[in-house]
Amino acid sequence: MTTESITITRPDDWHLHLRDGDVLNSVAPFTAKQFQRAIVMPNLKPAVTTVKQAIDYLDRILAAVEGSDFEPLMTLYLTDNTSAQEIMAAHKSCFIKGVKLYPAGATTNSDEGVTDIRNCDAALEEMQRAGLPLLVHGEVTDSDIDVFDREKVFIDRVLIPTMGRFPELKIVFEHITTADAVDFVQDSGPNIGATVTVHHLMYNRNAMFEGGIRPHNYCLPVLKRESHRQALLRAVASGNAKFFLGTDSAPHARNLKESSCGCAGIFSAHAAIELYTAVFDLIGAIDKLEAFASFYGPDFYGLPRNSGTITLEKSEQTIPESYPMADQSVVPLMAGQTIPWKIRPEHA
Ligand code: NCD
Ligand code: ZN
Repeated sequence: MTTESITITRPDDWHLHLRDGDVLNSVAPFTAKQFQRAIVMPNLKPAVTTVKQAIDYLDRILAAVEGSDFEPLMTLYLTDNTSAQEIMAAHKSCFIKGVKLYPAGATTNSDEGVTDIRNCDAALEEMQRAGLPLLVHGEVTDSDIDVFDREKVFIDRVLIPTMGRFPELKIVFEHITTADAVDFVQDSGPNIGATVTVHHLMYNRNAMFEGGIRPHNYCLPVLKRESHRQALLRAVASGNAKFFLGTDSAPHARNLKESSCGCAGIFSAHAAIELYTAVFDLIGAIDKLEAFASFYGPDFYGLPRNSGTITLEKSEQTIPESYPMADQSVVPLMAGQTIPWKIRPEHA
C-alpha cells in the first residue's frame, strides 16, 4: 500500500546558511515555513566570531521572519584565536548552540577559518566542559589531496586526533558524503553525530556532469560516487539516532553559480522536507522520516523535541525555475521539475 499522507512532529534543520541583508530577507521565510528551528551557520563576511556578533545576527534573522514562530539556533565561527572566555560567554548566552569549525580555505567564506585545530585546544577544552557541540566541515584543504578524498583524510588527520585529545567533546560531522564517514560515525561513541543533506541522498557525482557542466549541483563537500550515496541511504534508513537532518541549504545568486569560477552551494530550503520525504518514500523508509527529521537532532543537542506537527501529502508540485533573491535570483534544487510530495497548507 502506498502512503498518501504522513503527519510528523514539526522538523528542524540542523545545518543551514541564511546569509545576511536582503538575501537573508529573501531566503529565511522558506525555512521558517518548513522548520521550527535551524542551526544557523556563521560563515558571513565578516564571520560571526563573537557572542555580540551572534546576538546582532539573531536580531536580523528574527526581523526577517517576523510573524512566524521560527527559532534560529546560533553558532560561533571558530578561529585560531577563539578564546575560552568567548566559549564560556557563548554557552551562558543560551541561544548559541554550537561552534563551527571551517578548516581555512575549505569552502565559501572560510578564509578566517582554522589553520591548525591544535590552535583551538583552549576553546575545545571549554566546549567539552560546557557540552557545547563542535560542528565540523570535515574536509582537509591540502591541494595535493584529491577533492573526492578530502573527507576521508579529514577523519584520519583531524577528527581522530581531536577526539583523542577531547574524548567527551560533542561533535557533529556535518553534511557527510562518504561510506567512510558513515562507518566512522556508526563506530564512534554517542557524543559523535552527523547531519545528512537531501542533495547527497538524491544525487551522485554524475549529477554535476549530465550533458554538460551543472553548476547548480556543485556543493562542498562535493557529490561522491554512487556507492557512497548508497551508504548514506542505508544510514538514514537504518533509523540510527546518530544521523539527523541538516539541509546545508546554501543560496548563491544565479550569476555567481553560472560563472567561470562558480560558488559551491545548493539552495534547498524551498522544498527541503518534501524532498527528504520523497527520498525516504522511494527507499521504503518513510517510517524512519519523523525521527530523522524531528527527534534525533534535538536529542543530540539536548533540546526538547517540537510539539507541533506538519502533514505531507503525496501530491505533485512543480518547482519554479528560480526565486527572486535580493535584487537577483537563486536557482533552487529541482528547478523546473516536478516532485511527488508537498506540505499540506495549514488552512486547507
Ligand atoms: C556553503 C556556503 O555556500 O556557505 N557551501 C556549500 O557548498 N555547502 C559552505 C559550506 O557549508 O561548505
Ligand atoms: Zn554548510
